Amino acid sequence: MVKICCIGAGYVGGPTMAVIALKCPSINVAVVDISVPRITAWNSETLPIYEPGLDEVVKKCRGKNLFFSNEVEKNVAEADIVFVSVNTPTKTSGLGAGKAADLTYWESAARMIADVSKSSKIVVEKSTVPVKTAEAIEKILTHNNKGIEFQILSNPEFLAEGTAITDLLNPDRVLIGGREETPGGLKAIQTLKDVYAHWVPEERILCTNLWSAELSKLAANAFLAQRISSVNSMSALCEATGANVSQVSYAVGKDSRIGPKFLNASVGFGGSCFQKDILNLVYICECNGLPEVANYWKHVIKINDYQKNRFVNRLVSSMFNTISGKKIAILGFSFKKDTGDTRETPAIDVCRGLLLDRAQLIIYDPKVPEAQMMRDLSTPKFDWDQPGSTSPVSEDVITKNVKVVHNAYEATKDSHAICILTEWDEFKSLDYQKIYDNMPKPAYIFDGRNVVDVAKLRQIGFIVYSIGKPLDPWLKDMPAIA
Ligand code: NAD
Ligand code: UDX
Repeated sequence: MVKICCIGAGYVGGPTMAVIALKCPSINVAVVDISVPRITAWNSETLPIYEPGLDEVVKKCRGKNLFFSNEVEKNVAEADIVFVSVNTPTKTSGLGAGKAADLTYWESAARMIADVSKSSKIVVEKSTVPVKTAEAIEKILTHNNKGIEFQILSNPEFLAEGTAITDLLNPDRVLIGGREETPGGLKAIQTLKDVYAHWVPEERILCTNLWSAELSKLAANAFLAQRISSVNSMSALCEATGANVSQVSYAVGKDSRIGPKFLNASVGFGGSCFQKDILNLVYICECNGLPEVANYWKHVIKINDYQKNRFVNRLVSSMFNTISGKKIAILGFSFKKDTGDTRETPAIDVCRGLLLDRAQLIIYDPKVPEAQMMRDLSTPKFDWDQPGSTSPVSEDVITKNVKVVHNAYEATKDSHAICILTEWDEFKSLDYQKIYDNMPKPAYIFDGRNVVDVAKLRQIGFIVYSIGKPLDPWLKDMPAIA
């Protein structure tokens, strides 16, 4: 029986390995992690991450050919294929702070693999890493020269949160990069290809050299994020001209060369990957003497920051330039629907902005626990553009002015304004008449995700701002925003 071990039981390691176990009953899959609470949760009824369809897959395989364990070294030593799916966050200090990927966890995993291995192994980069990381990893793996052969492959993951299981079951492509120039490299590529071939059609399994695979992952995320910043930049122009960004996106996306996906204007993109991976790309470009290329990609993030600030400024200026003491209902805190993940969620920046203007926030999200929101709001924010931590919102302000509630009606009752920051389906079908009746007037809705029916809400009496849509007559008369 082939043995796979995955180091890192996170948003990628857990679901990816669960699907491999489901589709390959002949393979034994161990997912290991240094975090005891994470592994305990994977072995419990309440998994550590929320992902539609994940519970079912884990329940089918756990204890049969899928195991979660803190015995990292033992499972690595026994494995034929070791996936490394540890976190690779942006460095917050030292050389490259604010941009470069922090490979501390990766390096420590690689050193451990080198130390405990007694048999040859294929080591698979599942984490998103800078181009040429495989070269450094090869050096680490072979440093103590025990006569063991390590083949390193790059197999970046393209799943998106909220749709991880369907993405894994039906991927657009699986990418495997390896040392195509050597027989050992080719054999390793084929071994991993055979794993995926259990359920992925052969034409969707792409094999490349190591550097192409590593760079393709960063490039794919940069292209996706660039589409969002492009449409978000258009949303500002739509508001200034009376065009409707949904109509513009639709018309643009009908061009088969452009395509309709990933053109939804929003309060900004979030998630653990886009910003981190673009910054990583920017750093690599700078290190390779390509400042023009670096600046091009940097602007994708600058527009994203601009979009979040623009949303806060629009809200404040629409409410007579003061929200001091006003209650603002925040609907949605996760970075997108169908996940409880809050990493880099635009809600953090928007809420901080509103707190700085001394608003009182009542937050509701169907999946994010209160403790997580409080942690996110109080954790010092790292400024990628000017490295150095800044935390303008004090613990005291957060404790006094943030309340977390358990449904949208409770959040909106007596609120002066509503901000929709995540596109959870339930926000589309709320009883907005009932909500309006329970709010002081004028009652505002600021829709950062274009989920509400603007005309219907205006008919009820709301003053509605929806990203990139023709402005409410009320808002047109307000002072211009920065
Ligand atoms: P995560 O933080 O959810 O999980 C990483 C896990 O690795 C943590 O549980 C941590 O405890 C564990 N870990 C760290 N060092 C370890 C070590 N030395 N030994 C054992 N365990 C260790 O991260 P994630 O979201 O799963 O992302 C993992 C990688 O995949 C990152 O490089 C990310 O960029 C990439 N990626 C993420 C996504 C996504 O949607 N989250 C999608 C594609 C790629
Ligand atoms: C992304 C990539 O899509 C995935 O391929 C990669 O493996 C990891 O990074 P993820 O961050 O989980 O996945 O979610 P994604 O669906 O890409 O959304 C990212 C952010 O962009 C979210 O905040 C989402 O709301 C926002 N978004 C997405 C928009 O604002 N508009 C869109 O049209 C699409």
